[in-house]
Amino acid sequence: MKLDGLQVVSFESRLSKTLSDLIRVQGGEPIQAPSMREIPLENNHEAFSFAEDFFAGRVDVLILLTGVGTKALIQALETRYPTEKILEQFRKTCLVPRGPKPIRVLNELKVPFAVTVPEPNTWKELLQTLDQHAGEIPLCGKKVAVQEYGVSNPELLQRLSERGADVRRVPVYRWALPEDLAPLQNAIRQILKSRAQVAIFTTAIQIDHVLKVAGQMGVEKELKDKFKDMVIASVGPDTTQALRSAGIERDLEPESPKMGPLVSLVSQKAKMILQSKKEADCATLVRGGALDLMADQDAKESIFLKACRLEKTACTPVWLMRQAGRYMKDYRKLREEYPFMELCKRIDLAAEITVHAQQKLNADAAIIFSDILLIVEPMGFKLDYLKGGGPRIQKSMDAAKDVDKIRDFDPAKELNYVLKAISKTRASLKPEIALIGFAGAPFTLASYLIEGGSSKNFDKTKAFMKNNPEAWDLLLKKIAGFTASYLNAQAEAGADAVQLFDSWAGHLNKEEYKKFALPYSKMIFENLKPGLTGIHFGTNTAPFLEEFASAPSQVVSVDHRIDLSEAWEKIGKKKAIQGNLDPMILFKDLKTIEAETKKILRQAHGRAGHIFNLGHGVLPETPEENVIALVRMVHEFSGS
Ligand code: CP3
Repeated sequence: MKLDGLQVVSFESRLSKTLSDLIRVQGGEPIQAPSMREIPLENNHEAFSFAEDFFAGRVDVLILLTGVGTKALIQALETRYPTEKILEQFRKTCLVPRGPKPIRVLNELKVPFAVTVPEPNTWKELLQTLDQHAGEIPLCGKKVAVQEYGVSNPELLQRLSERGADVRRVPVYRWALPEDLAPLQNAIRQILKSRAQVAIFTTAIQIDHVLKVAGQMGVEKELKDKFKDMVIASVGPDTTQALRSAGIERDLEPESPKMGPLVSLVSQKAKMILQSKKEADCATLVRGGALDLMADQDAKESIFLKACRLEKTACTPVWLMRQAGRYMKDYRKLREEYPFMELCKRIDLAAEITVHAQQKLNADAAIIFSDILLIVEPMGFKLDYLKGGGPRIQKSMDAAKDVDKIRDFDPAKELNYVLKAISKTRASLKPEIALIGFAGAPFTLASYLIEGGSSKNFDKTKAFMKNNPEAWDLLLKKIAGFTASYLNAQAEAGADAVQLFDSWAGHLNKEEYKKFALPYSKMIFENLKPGLTGIHFGTNTAPFLEEFASAPSQVVSVDHRIDLSEAWEKIGKKKAIQGNLDPMILFKDLKTIEAETKKILRQAHGRAGHIFNLGHGVLPETPEENVIALVRMVHEFSGS
């Protein structure tokens, strides 16, 4: 029996018994927790109150957000009105289906619709489409109804209102919470007591309902935490999407979205997944094993933050720049679905990527999934990331006078999505895992603004700073001002430390660096709120490392082009050091990685205040398993 007595929670309602039988056949012990009740269509009061306005011609535009909801709305109306009358009114109304599912329903009924929304069919594309068709589908002064199913989308409703529409919600439900909540509450209690190892979700609505009930019991966060240790099985893409939006990571999903294949997949993989989740937990415990007492203390406090403060730790803390990125299979998968900027702006996804990378690697810190260039949008520039290429900034700085055009803005407001993602991530991470916020340093950021994207030799930037020193000074001061308040806001939102990326500072010589870059990075560190840990990162900084380290940060991050012990001498012993394995080493075999890791640890002499990292970010093609192995090695070799 492959499930060997594992306790499996099933949230299925209508086919609860069938699913339990399938679980039993595979040797599992089902815990039945029906989470939904079908609402008779004729009880859809919202649909009928909508119907009065609808048939009276008082709805100009009807936005259909989901396929099930569209169907439920029509079926509910059919309990009181003749189908032909309903379809006739649908034909007379300007219909805007959000994606393929409501379109399928309309096509089956042979009802025409006004526009199609491009993929990924989120409310943003919906709004863009409406804006593009403002001529044919005016919103201002019009009555716009939004069919909803499950949850409401306040952002969409607000944006429609901002365009002058008179907006009404039409929430139609076919499902409610079950009348008897006892089995579901009991299952939640079993999960909290670690008496269930697998959870099976068979529709998207279940997630909403389970979390709602957990919320009523006051244990939503605890439940989500427990889910992390369990095997989470999803029947198909919609359910997976709903899990993801709720911040729950699914472990299994069958190719065909049916219960049979789902249970059979669970029976094949559940034990293996549980084992690897347990091992990941053990790694956290084992790593300080040699120094039990200290490990005990470290378990409560971040060893990363201790090292930043030059305090001794049971083992060397490690995290990696770009640890959440394209080298990761799960990330690439997500990228097939979402453009990069959307991942950064979706709070749930940015938080999920951040936490996932930290957990997968067992790193001692997480860095918020975001980008140094997002700040240029509120500054008034158009930013996009070209497919397979680098970033592009349009209307880049061509002339000195362009500096005056830079918008003044409050990062706490206009980059609020980053702050929210930080808060959400902080809440999901274990307390002993530090969360790092970040921003680009003024020089590096200015170079992107002036070059309009990535550059090889920074000719335009150098010409700008030398030919227009006053405009340069103003530009970098502006960036420094925004950046300092942005980093402080990140700390307020939950970041435990902040890193300033001066990735391209090394393209300057010492004199240039001192004159055109350093003063502005200094301004930022000087303006961080007291007690906030700052990390100063640059590459190719060896020729001016003393100057670089003179900016008042607690930690200096060095690249692999300098020996760590030599770098620490130059930086001075009053500061912690971060680095500095060459990212290319991660393409080599484990023996080489081991030797190079030991070499760096030797150079740090076991002195307090070393944070292991790469010299620069993890490269896109790096084998994932080598990255995981590196973190394990650092813990192992430094902890004994
Ligand atoms: O895991 C992490 O480190 C957190 C996320 C993070 C990203 N960018 C995500 C990202 C961080 C810390 C950055 C910083 C960043 N962004 C820097 C400084 C660090 C460095 O590597 O020097 C710079 C110079 C940028 C600007 C930038 N963003 C470039 C040049 C590119 C394209 C090429 C590249 O390096 O990937 C990006 C895009 C970007 N930023 C991606 C990611 C995951 C790839 C986007 C994709 O999925 O296509």
